[in-house]
Amino acid sequence: MATAKRTSAEGLRRARELLTTEAAGRTVEPEASAPGYLDLLGGELESTGAAQDLMTTRFVPAIYERYWRPALARAVKGVTGPGMAEEVRIARLLLGLAPGDVVLDVACGPGNFTREFARAVGNDGLVVGIDASRTMLARGAAELEAAGLANLALIRADATVLPFREGVFDGLCCFAALHLFADPFAALDEMRRVLRAGGRIAIMTSVRRQVTLPPLKPLIERASGMRVFESDEIVGALQERGFENVRQRLAGLVQFVGGRLAP
Ligand SMILES: C[S@@+](CC[C@H](N)C(=O)[O-])C[C@H]1O[C@@H](n2cnc3c(N)ncnc32)[C@H](O)[C@@H]1O
Repeated sequence: MATAKRTSAEGLRRARELLTTEAAGRTVEPEASAPGYLDLLGGELESTGAAQDLMTTRFVPAIYERYWRPALARAVKGVTGPGMAEEVRIARLLLGLAPGDVVLDVACGPGNFTREFARAVGNDGLVVGIDASRTMLARGAAELEAAGLANLALIRADATVLPFREGVFDGLCCFAALHLFADPFAALDEMRRVLRAGGRIAIMTSVRRQVTLPPLKPLIERASGMRVFESDEIVGALQERGFENVRQRLAGLVQFVGGRLAP
């Protein structure tokens, strides 16, 4: 337990240096904040629908990493789509991770990708995972304890109003979450803001394929609270925000998109 406190406190101490002055003013000592993560959100976000609500229950975070995410992702990616290990590989490849990198994992859930990135960037690097769900972060803090990674910090924050200074991250990942945000394009603006010139982004989100008939799209979106992006919508949004070499890989009803912010 003592090691756990030390590892999360060390990661948080380093992550605090990346915060805006305003966000830093809102922080409390890690020992006094929720166990293992720093809460910069305070209250609750307004729900965008059923899919997001599930993420704040106790049940889903408990089974998320082992059962929920692999099963649901398999269903939407199709039988030939990448498995979880391959998703990690895609993220690492798109981010071009190197030892010493400073990485942000937006909507990190229980930190399933965050911990992989922390191992890749080594002790000189730092990985910060942000999420709005207390129960997801509590689970992530427990996993972090078990992993004993001192270069990882978990922060409760809203993806559409990131609490970090401009240009402080070398890489930014947002997997399985953009379609849940109230304003995904405001979130992309924020992601661009906190990435340094030449920094890389990796996104995995929904995409509408021919099989999703146009009349079904609003029904799916309304029932789940999840947005279904048009096939070129995210690629175009990244290009508009100054990303270069934007690549897209489709797998069933999801897309992986990567790019590099123009130097
Ligand atoms: C399906 S999980 C994705 C977790 C992980 N990135 C993965 O790929 O498995 C989606 C996460 O998005 C978080 N989330 C939804 N809206 C958010 C917002 N506005 N700001 C921060 N996190 C948000 C949820 O709490 C949930 O943990």
